[in-house]
Amino acid sequence: MAFPVTRLRRLRRTGELRNLVRETRLTPDAFVYPMFVCPGEGVRKEVRSMPGVFNLSVDEAVREAREVHSLGVPAVILFGLPNKKDEVATGAWAENGIVQQTARAMKREVPGLILMGDVCLCEYMSHGHCGIVKAAGQSLGAAVAAPPAATAEYEIVNDATLELLARTSVSLTKAGIDIIAPSDMMDGRVGAIRRALDEAGFINTPILSYAAKFASGFYGPFREAADSTPQFGDRRSYQMDSANLREAMREIEADIEEGADMIMVKPAMPYLDVIAAARERFDLPLAAYQVSGEYAMIEAAARNNWIDRERVMMESLVSIRRAGASIILTYYAKAAAKLLG
Ligand code: PBG
Repeated sequence: MAFPVTRLRRLRRTGELRNLVRETRLTPDAFVYPMFVCPGEGVRKEVRSMPGVFNLSVDEAVREAREVHSLGVPAVILFGLPNKKDEVATGAWAENGIVQQTARAMKREVPGLILMGDVCLCEYMSHGHCGIVKAAGQSLGAAVAAPPAATAEYEIVNDATLELLARTSVSLTKAGIDIIAPSDMMDGRVGAIRRALDEAGFINTPILSYAAKFASGFYGPFREAADSTPQFGDRRSYQMDSANLREAMREIEADIEEGADMIMVKPAMPYLDVIAAARERFDLPLAAYQVSGEYAMIEAAARNNWIDRERVMMESLVSIRRAGASIILTYYAKAAAKLLG
């Protein structure tokens, strides 16, 4: 039936009608709030390129977690800024690592909150890469004993890194992390982590794999927040090329075969087609990460009064849901939850 019998504007006439026929709804229980924890006490240091996002000491992070939970946001994902960095990412897997301390405190103080642990080594490595760095011609033993020379040809060693990721995952779980979320993009890490968790008796700890994580310029502000910028080179030999959708499907498939319980696409808005394709093809819970650069762009424009912050924030989140993600990691989790009331 065509016009004039059909008039699509009939259902857009009032706010009530538009609400009634809305296809995609946002609720705070879809959100995960990323947090950056650092040593010290009473520390609340705003990230320059992410206004409204802070490096928080454990006590402040617990306060913030309580607020997040009271707003109806069910989960946080934790990133750590360690005291000290080295070549084997000791701060990532140390029993008293900064995320481990935070997890113990949050479990005690905010027991209903789901704690996700981002598993990656870049924040804890002297060189800022997500895996062990080995210079050309160097032995693995030498590589983990001293910082690599900045100019030398190097590789990010895949298989030896898996052991550190597995160790980190077990350590985080022991400290109270509920969901392990590897973001390093080494091949085989989901399988290595699953085996290590099972061997340690953590058969019920789910893995949310950053399965399709693209090498992206949108991570810039995060690297300032987490102090994790690579000191030389870039992440293109392990994170995905932004042009590749079919390869993203292979990455996801591989992680599912290795035992991932949930999958993630990251970043979100520049990769909505990847989210939609993943939703179509796989039946696992699907998450998307609205990353630091996506947040920073909206904030920068809003601060100039070039766009309406709330409107663009909600529109960006709805678009991620509409593309097919059921879980959204976003720095707007608190603000959006407040607005959704
Ligand atoms: C760690 C990691 C990164 C992000 C999440 N985990 C940065 C990176 O890969 O360089 C990015 C999150 C964001 O930009 O908000 N590897």
